[in-house]
Amino acid sequence: MVAELSVELATQLQRATELLQSAKSICVLTGAGISAESGIPTFRDKQTGLWKNFRAEDLASPSAFARDPKLVWSWYQWRRQLVQDKLPNPAHQALAEWQQKNLASSSLISSSSTDISPPNRPQITLITQNVDDLHEQAGSDVIHLHGHLWRNRCHQCDMVYEAADNDSAAIFDDDLILCQHCGGYIRPDIVWFGESLPVEAWQDAEVSAANCEVFMSIGTSSLVYPAAGLAQLAKQNGAKVIEINPNPTPSSIVDITLAAKAGTLVPLLVASLSEWQK
Ligand code: OAD
Repeated sequence: MVAELSVELATQLQRATELLQSAKSICVLTGAGISAESGIPTFRDKQTGLWKNFRAEDLASPSAFARDPKLVWSWYQWRRQLVQDKLPNPAHQALAEWQQKNLASSSLISSSSTDISPPNRPQITLITQNVDDLHEQAGSDVIHLHGHLWRNRCHQCDMVYEAADNDSAAIFDDDLILCQHCGGYIRPDIVWFGESLPVEAWQDAEVSAANCEVFMSIGTSSLVYPAAGLAQLAKQNGAKVIEINPNPTPSSIVDITLAAKAGTLVPLLVASLSEWQK
């Protein structure tokens, strides 16, 4: 409920709503914080972050896999177990609802020749750094910059690997798997430190950021590049930047800071936009 927000937060929410109401194109970038309320730990939060207990370079880099493939594989199998029963939270759901509403109404508008004055229906591009599939589970169309936790490929020949049977014992087994094509080790299809982002996903993200009127950053520390550079790209091209994060980043390019949890703020924001669009 908006009434339960502090005056400062309610004011910022109103400003964000007004900005989004007039935007024709919106780019949304999400990070680990949006899945925190689903029970998936973030990377850098002091108490609960994954990198509190593990060093990223020991587990999420090609050199770590070359040094100790079993350790890296086991860590990702553990993360799969951690994530497997997690569900989208109200922030994922509200974003999906917002995207779907806009898609549905733009197709209605384009198929009708008798529209008098179509309401403002922005194009919303959703980009995530997360490797979970909670945005998809909620019904969103999403660009993944850092890969997919549930996919595997060969680290040597890149061939996609699919488990012969989809039973959970095989999915979560700690034993290393060899590629049937070249004999290399199978690895998770995740972008590790020092690796390039998937070309098409990155190009789509750059185009969306460079052309949006509003860039919304949700639940990310904005420390990992190139993803963190998307907000700067948007800003350089004239976009306004909104950040949703209970621990706002020190970024100087943010125009509106909504210092609250995504699970609270995103549904409120989408609801106030829906009110306006009725
Ligand atoms: P981080 O762990 O760096 O940052 C998570 C952010 O979410 C922090 O700024 C938190 O304050 C914020 N946060 C926590 N709970 C929240 C909530 N309920 N609502 C909104 N925000 C909340 O995660 P990312 O920025 O996503 O890369 O990290 C970027 C990349 O670093 C990840 O994709 C991963 C990691 O190494 C790869 O795995 C390639």
